[in-house]
Amino acid sequence: MRIGGIYYRSVWMEGDPAVVKVIDQRKLPFVFEVAELHRAEDAVRAIRDMVVRGAPLIGVTAAYGIYLAGLQSSAGSWCKEIRQAADQLVATRPTAVNLKYAVERMLQEVDCGGSREGTLTRLFNLAAGMAEEEVERCRQIGEHGLRIIRELHEKKNHEVRILTHCNAGWLACVDYGTATAPIYLAHDRGIPVHVWVDETRPRNQGARLTAFELKEHGVPHTVITDNAGGHLMQRGEVDLVLVGSDRTTRTGDVANKIGTYLKALAARDNRIPFYVALPSSSIDFQMERGEDIPIEFRDAGEVEYVEGWNEATREPGRIRVVPEGSGVANPGFDVTPARLVTGLITERGICRASEKGIRTLFQK
Ligand code: MRU
Repeated sequence: MRIGGIYYRSVWMEGDPAVVKVIDQRKLPFVFEVAELHRAEDAVRAIRDMVVRGAPLIGVTAAYGIYLAGLQSSAGSWCKEIRQAADQLVATRPTAVNLKYAVERMLQEVDCGGSREGTLTRLFNLAAGMAEEEVERCRQIGEHGLRIIRELHEKKNHEVRILTHCNAGWLACVDYGTATAPIYLAHDRGIPVHVWVDETRPRNQGARLTAFELKEHGVPHTVITDNAGGHLMQRGEVDLVLVGSDRTTRTGDVANKIGTYLKALAARDNRIPFYVALPSSSIDFQMERGEDIPIEFRDAGEVEYVEGWNEATREPGRIRVVPEGSGVANPGFDVTPARLVTGLITERGICRASEKGIRTLFQK
């Protein structure tokens, strides 16, 4: 995707094989800054502190983190050091299953009885390969999801008004995005779309990141408060809800950023299609029930303060919005039951949010 006309991915390597680059998403849209990861600890910190976020991106960043762990390890203990890094990376964020999958896949390439160099080459290739895989998955999600937008356009004969939550865009996914991939494609192919962007408290990934992406791409959009979606749906101003997922069970229950469930309820009440766009790396094929998805509880400070651009000082800052001494809770994700989901848009096509539906696309 392009920022100011320059093509970027949200994680990449160039030139130096010992440096991984990422966009520091904590500073967007106010400051565009590239951060460098040199060691596994840098990857751990980047994921934990949300320099990078979004399920596919944290998976790929963790994969590079394992590679960096190997690269920086000492000759006598490289295998142990890689495993330690793997444990630290998996512990950073519990909800997105991509992270666990990525680390497990990388560990399969670690041959403790073989040569360190051989393992390093395989780790590098696999991490780079995973990045490419995620890009290709998102590209295909775009093609499949486009069908839904095109059909709505033909049926309604006006611009397709799409509500999205959080940031399931290219920043979250290396490139294209999940929920945004069909939107970008529709826009590029001349189908008129307008996106309602939920601000997505507490960290405002919608207002800050999705709006930034859409603006850079020239897609018409309007940022709304998290509570406005139901009202707009009742007024007939939403044709489609399209969100991403951090983990979807094999039966189609969808964990996504906190607030998604309420949008699904409102969509159902107003007979509006509610689709979830996700790569197979976000499907937990082992897990049956949405209740079992680990939900990340995040720092109270995210609720107590709002971060933004201070017009007076002309720099980013944060202000308190909760009285000191008030209790605060900050669950990061919720689970939308499969029955509220119209369909899943994956790289292999669109299916029902059910075990049978998922199995039609993913045999094993
Ligand atoms: O806490 P985050 O920002 O890492 O949350 C992840 C998300 O952005 C979303 O929940 C998203 O919709 C799914 S990831 C493509």
